[in-house]
Amino acid sequence: MHRRDFIARSAVALGMAAFGKYGFISPRTAAAAQENPFSNQLYIPPLLEKSGVSTDISPLSLVVQKGQHEFFSNGLTDTLGYNGSILGPTIRVRNKENVRLQVQNSIDQITTVHWHGLHVPAQWDGGPHQVIEPGEVWKPDFTINQQAATLWYHPHAMGLTGEHVYRGLAGLFIIEDEISDTLALPRNYGVDDIPLIIQDRRFFEDRSFAYVRSMHDIMHGVLGNFLLVNGGLKPYAELPRGIARFRLLNGSNSSIYRFYFSDDQPFHVIASDGGFLSTPVGVQELILSAGERAEILFDSGALSPGDRLRLLVDQYSGNTYEAMELRISDKRAEQQEVVSRLREQSRLDESSADRTRNFAMETMSPGGRGMGMMGGNRLAINGKKMDMTRIDVTMPLGSTEIWEVENRSATMMQLPHSMHLHDVQFNILDRNGQFPDPIEAGRKDTVLLWPNDKVRLIAQFLDYTGIYMFHCHMLEHEDDGMMGQFEVVG
Ligand code: C2O
Ligand code: CU
Ligand code: CU
Repeated sequence: MHRRDFIARSAVALGMAAFGKYGFISPRTAAAAQENPFSNQLYIPPLLEKSGVSTDISPLSLVVQKGQHEFFSNGLTDTLGYNGSILGPTIRVRNKENVRLQVQNSIDQITTVHWHGLHVPAQWDGGPHQVIEPGEVWKPDFTINQQAATLWYHPHAMGLTGEHVYRGLAGLFIIEDEISDTLALPRNYGVDDIPLIIQDRRFFEDRSFAYVRSMHDIMHGVLGNFLLVNGGLKPYAELPRGIARFRLLNGSNSSIYRFYFSDDQPFHVIASDGGFLSTPVGVQELILSAGERAEILFDSGALSPGDRLRLLVDQYSGNTYEAMELRISDKRAEQQEVVSRLREQSRLDESSADRTRNFAMETMSPGGRGMGMMGGNRLAINGKKMDMTRIDVTMPLGSTEIWEVENRSATMMQLPHSMHLHDVQFNILDRNGQFPDPIEAGRKDTVLLWPNDKVRLIAQFLDYTGIYMFHCHMLEHEDDGMMGQFEVVG
């Protein structure tokens, strides 16, 4: 989609993003203006991984904790983080590796930790059923059973997901394997292999996060007017000259982002949610909805030391941000060429499906009277809101299924949605009857549906039985009940 269309859609859907009206800080007020944008170095979350010493069997440890973070030079914001005041360490593991974790909840609310994109037994999925009570410790123990990919982790407690993520809980989860080892790709974490967790926030005048959910916020998502990159406002990063790899996560609650570089400089997409594409795809822009990831390569080989460029982000709501500055250093990057082939990726074939199911992501149930002015919205999947005691879909272990997902928006309330399935990586068979774009043709766990879009997914439910979630990854929609449960039975 072109920039113009992206912005135009935003204007139609969100003529009324009312910042300022409720006492939120505007980036334009003197109080909030960063004296020196691009003066803080990009924060790189620390790595959390096994020590490599074979006798070391200590678990990877996460502590869910309260903190305070300085977004603005003149005041602190109360936050939540894993092992720190904001976000969490980047967990890095290898395929086939046994991973033991220890998650301690030291906040005064229940929480969970969900490994988004990871194929693990249901009891370790970290969905709403795996509650960690305040003061308790949860000890997942699983074996990585999937190819190299950039995944992430975040809380998933019933009705609290949006709030917990907003306050700071999210981290990356990287898997490497024998194939990712051999590809000529940047792999120096934080130097030329750079995690970028993109989120937007709004703040009250006292610098606290403005996580309030009016009916408007529930319908459109809580959309911010400040853009955070790894928890910071307008950071800069130095890049060695040559190829840099960015692992992009749209970690926002509900925003759709369009990413591009200044002067529309080209870049390559090399991976989608669940792993590498077969070959790099050259683009000038990339759209990710909440929860989606992509890995991209940017080639600064033709630039000169000292050159600066910007990563720009359009938010589906009309804002455009200069997200961060990239400064080309006088160092030479290890990689100077964009690889030509990544890895062979097979796609699931339609004819292998055991059955097809239909899912309507609804803003209003058919025949309904629309949203009452007094509340009572109708965000639902197939007319139902999430009920932890109800299993919506049951499938035998080993099944291959086509899920036909439709965004059935009421004419008066055209909302996008993004469908996410736990447990599996799927293929998109088609989007509105068309073969998906190359960047959507690989392994996916989350897919954006614009109003009235119809997407057919195909997935195999292998290895593990138990209860998993599927839901809209706009977290305010999820928390409002746009979620269901599937059970894989043995
Ligand atoms: Cu990213 Cu059910 O979650
Ligand atoms: Cu998930
Ligand atoms: Cu939604």
